Amino acid sequence: MDPIDVMARYEDRTARSRELYGRARRSIAGETTRSSVWFEPYPLYAASGEGCRIVDADGVERIDCIGNYSALVLGHRHPAVLAAIAAQLERGTAFSAPSEREVELAELLCERLASVERVRFTSTGTEATMYAMRVARAATGRTVVARFEGGYHGTHDFAQVSTHPDLAAAGDPRRPSAVADGPGIPPRVLEMTLVLPFNDLEGAKVLLAERAADVAAVIVEPVMGSCGCIPAEEGFLEGLREITRELGMLLIFDEVISLRLGYGGAQGVYSIEPDLTTMGKIIGGGLPVAAFGGSADLMGIVDPEAPVTMEQAGTYNGNPLGTAAGAATMRELTPTAVERLNAAGETLRTELREVFAAHELDVQIVGMGSILAVHFTNGPVRNYRDVAGADGELLGRFVIGMMNEGIFLAPRGMMALCTPMTDGDLAQVVRATDRVAAELA
Ligand SMILES: Cc1ncc(COP(=O)(O)O)c(C=O)c1O
Repeated sequence: MDPIDVMARYEDRTARSRELYGRARRSIAGETTRSSVWFEPYPLYAASGEGCRIVDADGVERIDCIGNYSALVLGHRHPAVLAAIAAQLERGTAFSAPSEREVELAELLCERLASVERVRFTSTGTEATMYAMRVARAATGRTVVARFEGGYHGTHDFAQVSTHPDLAAAGDPRRPSAVADGPGIPPRVLEMTLVLPFNDLEGAKVLLAERAADVAAVIVEPVMGSCGCIPAEEGFLEGLREITRELGMLLIFDEVISLRLGYGGAQGVYSIEPDLTTMGKIIGGGLPVAAFGGSADLMGIVDPEAPVTMEQAGTYNGNPLGTAAGAATMRELTPTAVERLNAAGETLRTELREVFAAHELDVQIVGMGSILAVHFTNGPVRNYRDVAGADGELLGRFVIGMMNEGIFLAPRGMMALCTPMTDGDLAQVVRATDRVAAELA
């Protein structure tokens, strides 16, 4: 496929998005307000969504294979979620007082997650990981947070380290350097961050043992979402559980994406109980709600009646509209619904692999349950270095090619399935991939 051709076709069908992009340039720095949805030549502007379909500003309908980066697990405008929002709209959207809605969502989350006895709500996953790190520092009296290269934990200062480091600066793969994701991250933050190699338990153990006295917590995504849907390999999380216990560090599972992978989150699938869990995306049912939680004892630090309290405020924390939508979503996401979605993901991965193999393209389809990512590389994808070595230019053409063929996915090649998707919809995704792969080959 001629790269010019694929872009020309994209631009041909997206005049209104191009116009909005041009208009945005005059008032929004960087044209969109969310770095993760930007791509070249310009992103599609969304007009509406229904079920598993999204309609762009030009009225073109596509299958929405990303659902607001995995948040819309029930698709767009699910009737139960709309009803919960509508009922709450009648009562009001925000009060400077708690409401029954936040209690309901908290109960649902504590019931699902074995390791979570108490939660606190935030508006974003970014805040959830920031507070989880702070709880860990308060609980241990240590300051360093260990995290994995390529892991994504949002955009606060302590999260923006070695998420996507330039390989020239990233150092030894088994002893990764702490690299700021961009300007403005204080050097002190880098000193207070220990970067570990993902899926390399022995490597991680050595580095943790070296800084044993300083490390408050290890934060890890059980399945690295943003990095390319890379699951922790067998024994890896178990090993982290053991070593953190041994060295007196907390283990934080960042389940902002992975919560959807099991009824009790990825921690249920892997049968591991972290000390703290961060959640987001699906728990807001399409509205901005996130949370952090853990044992009653650990979370007691935010209790206003505790002798020393960690303050956690936020104008929209636990707001009734978002928590109502989130509770409705969690109720719909039964064990059967999760199983069906995961099975659909497994089938789609198999079929996509067959398609790329038939066109003799070096592609790895990586993922778990209902999330997956496409990597243009011939080697296994086990960590950030493998992803960084893949062909990004080809991936970019693939993504635009899929947009042209009626499939909306994340610019980084990620897909997250939603419950309204039928076998027919998934077959459409496979057929579109086949056409795009044929052009790429
Ligand atoms: C694992 C993980 N943690 C944290 C975040 C940050 O969440 P938010 O975008 O709501 O701030 C994300 C967002 O994609 C995520 O994937």
